[in-house]
Amino acid sequence: MTINSSDLWHHYGRTRAEHDRAVPETFRWIWGQDSGPGPEILGDLSGRVVGDLGAGAARHAAHLTAHHRPALVVAADASPAQYEMATGLFGHLAPRLRIVRSDAVSHLHAAAGTAGTYDVLYSIFGALDFTDPRELLPAVASALKPGGRLVFSTLAHYLSGAPAQTDVMAADVTAKTPEGKATTMRRWVLQEHVWVKVLDESGFAGITVDMLPSTVAGPRTADTLLVTAVRRP
Ligand SMILES: C[S@@+](CC[C@H](N)C(=O)[O-])C[C@H]1O[C@@H](n2cnc3c(N)ncnc32)[C@H](O)[C@@H]1O
Repeated sequence: MTINSSDLWHHYGRTRAEHDRAVPETFRWIWGQDSGPGPEILGDLSGRVVGDLGAGAARHAAHLTAHHRPALVVAADASPAQYEMATGLFGHLAPRLRIVRSDAVSHLHAAAGTAGTYDVLYSIFGALDFTDPRELLPAVASALKPGGRLVFSTLAHYLSGAPAQTDVMAADVTAKTPEGKATTMRRWVLQEHVWVKVLDESGFAGITVDMLPSTVAGPRTADTLLVTAVRRP
């Protein structure tokens, strides 16, 4: 997940977790988290087994658990800090919300059986952004049941405004160690046609990509790509 062993997600969401401990009333895909489509993109979740890949503090997973009727939501994140935060905030939603500290690829390999485990997998600027898709997407396909759905939101361009990559290629972006030192981590920011190609090569069909524009202007705002695909039978 990172180029060194330090937890580069140590600081993420920490301030918010100190004062906002409620299960969110809404679920949004876009970078600004302020409007646009919601969980209906995931389809009817009644009785479904759902997984969030790179769930962070598990706010989206907690919303689905509390406001929809899935059989189980698994919130997986590789960061010890995020796992701890999620457990502290939403551990009380167990057993229908299961918070797991694991790299997404290892978790999915363990979950994959002959018919897959998950009905739906999703990610919101999560594992899909920070893991080589040629490694992660085949693991996603094998952990989904045939016909199972993958939905994820990802950056349509870099936060600097630079355009997305025209091939499956990561770039180093800024990050911070737990001690506050500046460092970098790898992020995959890919153009729409690149996502379509790598999804197709990884066993997905019915691929759609929607561009959701940012609702605000200014530095570090971004447009979102919302990607949906179905595991080929
Ligand atoms: C930008 S945060 C987004 C968190 C959450 N989805 C949200 O919207 O608040 C990215 C998260 O992805 C997690 N992540 C990145 N690569 C991962 C991987 N390969 N497996 C599991 N988690 C990963 C990080 O630990 C981090 O918590």
